[in-house]
Amino acid sequence: MADEQKNPMGNLYPYAERLGVIRSFPEKGRPRQEILDELREVAQEEDSFWQTGQCSGTMYCGDTEHYAFLNEVFANYAHVNALQRDICPSATRFEGEITAMALDMMNASAAVGEGDDATPCGSVTSGGTESIITSVLMYRDKYRAERGITEPEMILPTTAHPAFEKGAHLFGVKVVHVPVDPEVTTVDVDLVREQINDNTIMIVGSAGNYPYGTIDPIEELSDLAVERDVSLHVDGCLGGFILPWGQQLGYDIPVFDFRLPGVTTISADTHKYGYGLKGTSVLLCRDRALRRHQYFTTPEWPGGKYNSPGIAGSRSGGLLASAWASMVSLGREGYLGYAKAIFETAFAMQDVVNSHPELKMMGKPTFCFSFSSDRFDIYHVNDFMKERGWRFNGQQYPNAIHMCVTRPQTQAGVVEKFAEDLDAAVKYALDPPNEAPITGAVYGGVPKDVPGLQDLVRGALVGYLDSCQDLPPGGKS
Ligand SMILES: Cc1ncc(COP(=O)(O)O)c(C=O)c1O
Repeated sequence: MADEQKNPMGNLYPYAERLGVIRSFPEKGRPRQEILDELREVAQEEDSFWQTGQCSGTMYCGDTEHYAFLNEVFANYAHVNALQRDICPSATRFEGEITAMALDMMNASAAVGEGDDATPCGSVTSGGTESIITSVLMYRDKYRAERGITEPEMILPTTAHPAFEKGAHLFGVKVVHVPVDPEVTTVDVDLVREQINDNTIMIVGSAGNYPYGTIDPIEELSDLAVERDVSLHVDGCLGGFILPWGQQLGYDIPVFDFRLPGVTTISADTHKYGYGLKGTSVLLCRDRALRRHQYFTTPEWPGGKYNSPGIAGSRSGGLLASAWASMVSLGREGYLGYAKAIFETAFAMQDVVNSHPELKMMGKPTFCFSFSSDRFDIYHVNDFMKERGWRFNGQQYPNAIHMCVTRPQTQAGVVEKFAEDLDAAVKYALDPPNEAPITGAVYGGVPKDVPGLQDLVRGALVGYLDSCQDLPPGGKS
């Protein structure tokens, strides 16, 4: 197979045969048009995969005209560094207004208190992960300064996004996991209460969580946070830009925002249901004193009096401009319209799943739903659906697959195709040609209690990451 090498996950190093591999710095530059033509062709081919509407999540907007508009906005500011506000004052306008709009969406006026510091505020980060790890940093430093906590702990439902663990790992915070009943799929607040101690700095709830799309009982978590005087981060990275519109449309979605007194930070991703370009999220804080814990200043540096508002240094003004333009161009009306189509599509797809007694819905979802089966391994269904062009996201413990409904699924015919293919997939799974499902090997759960097995899986994941960063060994250039 020439210079194409298989990586541990079975993928090939992409395009080596067709486009070659650049292994050293090219002596001369290539004509711009040639580069553009090549990239356009490949990008269009790759886009055709999700444009069918059969791919879960990730392409939240999918509207090529919206993307073209955002790219035009981006081009005006792409080269600008938002760290240097003296020469790009527009960045302050974009960041301030993105945050103001997001605060409004999260009913932050309910959190305005006495004095300047008791004012909700926020900042724009590079994505959900950065928003979340920044919240971990802020709470660690706040409680170290205010309560002298040197061995901080956070309490995390097992369904919370791994970004919290990443933040804990980076900033030396102990993670205390709280199990989540797979039938219910949301955290049991009494179990969280049991784990709170003098070192607890934060508790976490998701609106909604990634595996099942379900919403933790944020109101009860808020009461608990107030009662025990700890902070509560609401992870709205996935649901933050769609659930508020769902509430306004009258769907059964509980309050999870700043109207609840215990909610101290919320993350919500402009690059997901905010329909912005990839690379932005907002982190909202209940008060300005809290936000100062994410700032970094070094007045003594020979290079000048350095200061940055968050983890990043230089940031593209283009991403701020395009996130702002996405929100301003759509307005409430645009977001409400898209949300209605997404919720209606998601409920129609859930009706399809619920019409099969062999399938089991995980919890009570809204725009993102996950299903499993007590009759067969659900990855048999995934195997079949994959052949028909569907791409779900896989869960484990128990094995399940989820569909995060986005705008591409709202196209005519997608729900009908889902119904037709799922019907055939269930028949296939009841009598599969092979005992072990093929995709289960990648997405399904491996036993947790077999010694060394999780280390083996971790090793395979590291190998996969290597193969995503490296060139294939040897071969022609
Ligand atoms: C609930 C939730 N939180 C956090 C994240 C992390 O966001 P990002 O991938 O933008 O870093 C995701 C991503 O899917 C998510 O679904």
